[in-house]
Amino acid sequence: MFNFDFQNPTKIVFGKDRIKELNKLIKDNARVLITYGGGSVKRFGTFDKVYNAINNGKRVIFEFGGIEPNPKYDTLMKAVDIVKKENIDFLLAVGGGSVMDGTKFINLAANYKGETPENLLYGKFNENDFSKIIPIGTVVTLPATGSEMNSGAVVSHKNGKFPVMSKHSFPKFSILEPELTYTLPKTQVANGIADTFIHTVEQYVTYPVDAKIQDRMAEGILKTLIEIADDCLTKENDYNSRANFMWSATMALNGLIGLGVPQDWATHAMGHELTYLFGIDHGKTLSILQPAIWEVRKDKKRDKLIQYAERVWEIDIENDDEKIDIAINKTREFFEKLGIKTHLSDYGIKEEQIEDIIKSLEAHHINNISETHDLTIDIMREILKKAY
Ligand code: NZQ
Ligand code: ZN
Repeated sequence: MFNFDFQNPTKIVFGKDRIKELNKLIKDNARVLITYGGGSVKRFGTFDKVYNAINNGKRVIFEFGGIEPNPKYDTLMKAVDIVKKENIDFLLAVGGGSVMDGTKFINLAANYKGETPENLLYGKFNENDFSKIIPIGTVVTLPATGSEMNSGAVVSHKNGKFPVMSKHSFPKFSILEPELTYTLPKTQVANGIADTFIHTVEQYVTYPVDAKIQDRMAEGILKTLIEIADDCLTKENDYNSRANFMWSATMALNGLIGLGVPQDWATHAMGHELTYLFGIDHGKTLSILQPAIWEVRKDKKRDKLIQYAERVWEIDIENDDEKIDIAINKTREFFEKLGIKTHLSDYGIKEEQIEDIIKSLEAHHINNISETHDLTIDIMREILKKAY
């Protein structure tokens, strides 16, 4: 196991009927900006619940809606103006990964001392570049990204999608009410399960470093997802499957399973290009790429793919090569059963457009990635052809 430090400051408030506790979680006289997406939280009553919970007559409450999936820099900068003008001192994100990520970015951008907040997108900042940091709370409506308990955000701007990592971005608290997920369309449930699955394997299907706890936790998340997926998709308002789904998503990307182990993230780096170029949902981009990446990188990941096959899919046969192939096929079938198509051609992309993806990867200097830093552009081309 590699050396590691671990600190995660986010308080989790999980379970039924927890929104009303917002009143205790935010200071009495705060100037709060509630951020949300394209309107689902208004349509399904979550916004009102949140508003009523915090409206104590002493707080001043503002709202900013319209944060789109794959949140755009220009949209978020409009919220930055409100934060500055109204002296906001608490940010409350109500939504999925896009709203949570967007809100983290609003916070950083509003308090960034450098020339332009665009620098944040390109990693041109350090943790001391902020005049102050506003506390953030979240109310999660879509389990997927783990944003509710991590320090990452992904923002779209001009010619790409950019990860913005900062220790200042951990939420102070996150409310996880599984019942809020009942209104999700099936396709978003599928996206969330796939995203959670792939966050887990990005930190697990690499090479062994004898990190037994992290491995067993990762396997636990994967087996849980396989067990609950069907209930999440087919049983209406099924609390237990949604509760397990929600906690899996948080646990997959709150730092724990990635401690002291190699991490890949090639699927995500390449997936962001597919969202940027073709507008494919994040979870779907990953499901297209993951089986192809494993097919091409079998030798690099051999030991962990065997472990994955044996422990997650319980494949009990002699031949290791076959074991790996069956595990990869089962993974692809799992995504397909979620209702996610796993080939580029399923999304109306033409084979010659693979070169556009390659150009975009090059423009974003994505090269020599993966846990072994040797996944080159040429290998990415091979992966994309396999994924076609
Ligand atoms: O915008 P509204 O109207 O609210 O509708 C949203 C949106 O259209 C809808 N939705 C959310 N909760 C709902 C609901 N509809 C009905 N009922 C509910 N309870 O779902 C749609 C998608 O929402 P979005 O927030 O975009 O999805 P997701 O949570 O998958 O987030 C995706 C974003 O997160 C980034 C992705 O790149 C992408 O930009 N990621 C962030 C990460 C992080 N912070 O660590 C890691 C991830 O790998 C990922 O990259
Ligand atoms: Zn993801």
